[in-house]
Amino acid sequence: MSELENIRGQVRTCTKCDLCKTRTNAVPGEGPLDAQIMFVGEAPGREEDRKGRPFVGAAGKKLTEVLEKAGFSRDHVYITNVVKCRPPGNRVPSDAEQAMCKTYLESEIRNINPKIICVMGNTASNSILGQGEITKNHGKIVDRDGVRYFLTFHPAATIYNQELLATLIEDIKVLADIVVKL
Ligand code: URA
Ligand code: SF4
Repeated sequence: MSELENIRGQVRTCTKCDLCKTRTNAVPGEGPLDAQIMFVGEAPGREEDRKGRPFVGAAGKKLTEVLEKAGFSRDHVYITNVVKCRPPGNRVPSDAEQAMCKTYLESEIRNINPKIICVMGNTASNSILGQGEITKNHGKIVDRDGVRYFLTFHPAATIYNQELLATLIEDIKVLADIVVKL
């Protein structure tokens, strides 16, 4: 078994924080081991909790649409979240929950070793880079501890906002141009 499969198994049975008590399914990241890009969201929603797969609800449809418009195939990228179990009512995961779950994201990053990590939305940006303000910082690259990150909006924020959707698509096109040069 690959180490990534091992991690996925650990996530599915994890009881490190209280979110394990209310989840239906834990949601490990998914995508090929040789993915060049990793996309990181906040936490599973209702649909993800039901299916045990990331970004398969309304936000996931947007993400898939945006990826395709920028020339990526969803099957070729790695998709995951800061926190792997659904917070009740889709509240923002607490600092303690984020801290508990962090080792899984770190293991995913180590194993996939992507060229760049696309951090989507304020929660992921705060958790991973200690900075929010996505409205100001979207489209930027941040290098931290030998890992390269790209900041953009969370696809859920674009569901009822066509203008933001257009901006997200532009950002992901910029990201696509960056990746071919890496
Ligand atoms: N929102 C997220 O942040 N992650 C998912 O997997 C689904 C919705
Ligand atoms: Fe474990 Fe993370 Fe789920 Fe908490 S959210 S139970 S740390 S997998």
